[in-house]
Amino acid sequence: MMYFWFKALHLIGIVVWFAGLFYLVRLFVYHTEASQQSEPAQTILRTQYEIMEKRLYKIITIPGMVMTVTTAIGLISTKPEILKLRWLHIKLVFVALLLAYHFFCGWIMKQLEKKECQWTNQQFRAFNEAPTVLLFIIILLAVFKNNLPFYSTIILIFLVVITITIFIKIYERKRSFIQVKINEYRKE
Ligand code: HEM
Repeated sequence: MMYFWFKALHLIGIVVWFAGLFYLVRLFVYHTEASQQSEPAQTILRTQYEIMEKRLYKIITIPGMVMTVTTAIGLISTKPEILKLRWLHIKLVFVALLLAYHFFCGWIMKQLEKKECQWTNQQFRAFNEAPTVLLFIIILLAVFKNNLPFYSTIILIFLVVITITIFIKIYERKRSFIQVKINEYRKE
């Protein structure tokens, strides 16, 4: 029974953690865009995004991560034989990457606050998609376990990356087109 409780809480923790990570990096995009505004809008927007980022990181993202990891420890302690399984070892490699991403986001947050971050909003948009790829891989590993269809997984991940890249490029073009129209309108 405990095992099911841990699994249910593990899944809830994952949803919370990812919601936090996705929204946090989206805030980084807006934060960077705010730097292109003139004063006083820039300072007002930057201050607001700093508050939102800090709250999101502390109240949603960190608790989601802690819940996922502690319930995972709970799952393993109730069924220690799982530790011998190969799929879990591979999954742990990708979870380690996810944890690195999580803490790197915390570091970026501080860099943005100190105005020392040189990243563009486009770079943050691409960076925001990294956890999507990790999510696909980790979920597929957790569901298929040792029977993960290797080639189908590679093809699926490849398609995900291609689709995301195309969407980012289309969005980039749409935005620059709108920006040109705005500039024309301002000149008139
Ligand atoms: C600290 C790292 C983690 C460890 C040690 C861990 C370990 C585990 C274990 C032992 C199970 C139970 C497997 C079973 O019942 O056969 C499980 C289930 C699951 N985990 Fe994790 N996990 C971790 C992080 C994550 C993350 C980050 C995700 C998602 C991105 C994830 C997704 C899942 C899913 C979807 C299940 C349910 C699979 C099923 O019901 O068959 N886990 N995890």
